Amino acid sequence: MAHAIRFHKTGGPEALTYEEIEVPAPGQGQIKIKNHAIGVNFIDTYFRMGMYPSPVGLPFVAGNEGAGEVIAVGPGVSDFKVGDRVAYVVSLGAYATERLLPADRAVKLPAKISYEQAAAMMLKGMTVQYLVRRTYRVQKGDNILIHAAAGGVGLIACQWANHLGANVIGTVGSKDKADLAKKNGAHHAILYRDEDFVAKVKEITGGALCAAVYDGVGKTTFPASLDCIKPLGTFVSFGSASGQVEAFNINILQTKGSLFATRPTLVHYTAKREDLLKTANELFEVVESGAVKIPVNQKYSLKDAQKAHRDLESRGTTGSTILLP
Ligand SMILES: NC(=O)c1ccc[n+]([C@@H]2O[C@H](COP(=O)([O-])OP(=O)(O)OC[C@H]3O[C@@H](n4cnc5c(N)ncnc54)[C@H](OP(=O)(O)O)[C@@H]3O)[C@@H](O)[C@H]2O)c1
Repeated sequence: MAHAIRFHKTGGPEALTYEEIEVPAPGQGQIKIKNHAIGVNFIDTYFRMGMYPSPVGLPFVAGNEGAGEVIAVGPGVSDFKVGDRVAYVVSLGAYATERLLPADRAVKLPAKISYEQAAAMMLKGMTVQYLVRRTYRVQKGDNILIHAAAGGVGLIACQWANHLGANVIGTVGSKDKADLAKKNGAHHAILYRDEDFVAKVKEITGGALCAAVYDGVGKTTFPASLDCIKPLGTFVSFGSASGQVEAFNINILQTKGSLFATRPTLVHYTAKREDLLKTANELFEVVESGAVKIPVNQKYSLKDAQKAHRDLESRGTTGSTILLP
């Protein structure tokens, strides 16, 4: 029998319940996967709270990222066979020992990438790929500010932006996180709970400010983030770990220097299969080359998903978190 973490109602971590589920045979265009590792992401907490509505109503199986082996193939699927090692992102239903998945959302895993690495990096690493290569294309010599630099997305983003030749400035919530961010590509770390991060960015960049700010924190770093960006620079608001950015007057972008602002999400950057594969392949390349390492700093049993969510939301984690079925 398969097991999963399901929600019958939205709410706090206690809404996550471990249950037996039945996973039918795959239908047209689907594959059935036995998960070997499952990624935990901040977005999972947005679905749990009801900030993002479930596309399938209630109850639903949580989770958006995982890796495992194909154990059955539905009619019409020609790209995958039983035994293939695969991974996937932004497909609800990952917190389970087994699941169905549209085959066109799966990616074959290179032999050198383990299931645990894949579950820790597909969503966060593909997000970093589009952020630093497409949303704002990081250039050699750019000053770049990355908020929550010691987090799952943060540690990957610091390494990748460093690899592209940027001067990487990270904000972090503690001294230990500052050390970790610096070991993972950040040239400078600002303790934004104690220090005025705008003043520190001005000091570090000698007043030149940043070509782009990558902000997954949201409410508490806005609008100050805009003051860290040079004229014609880019504000990338890609998450809401502290709550959502509230409505603002768009004229602020003019007064702060004719800034560009965007609120992107991985779903749209990987909607076409060719983009999904391109994004994943570029991630695999930087990881296989050793330019970007994937720190898996927390592992929990699938049954302990409640604890994983509590730790993530209490700022008690660094790097990536995975669940093991
Ligand atoms: N748009 C997309 O495509 C996309 C894709 C993936 C992730 N994201 C976003 O990226 C962000 C990071 O995701 P992640 O899964 O890697 O999480 P994470 O960064 O590992 O965890 C969130 C971090 O945010 C910081 N934070 C600041 N204020 C907070 C608060 N009030 N409550 C909790 N945390 C707070 C904490 O770091 P400090 O202690 O250092 O402040 C915390 O560790 C999230 O906003 C997520 O939604 C967006």
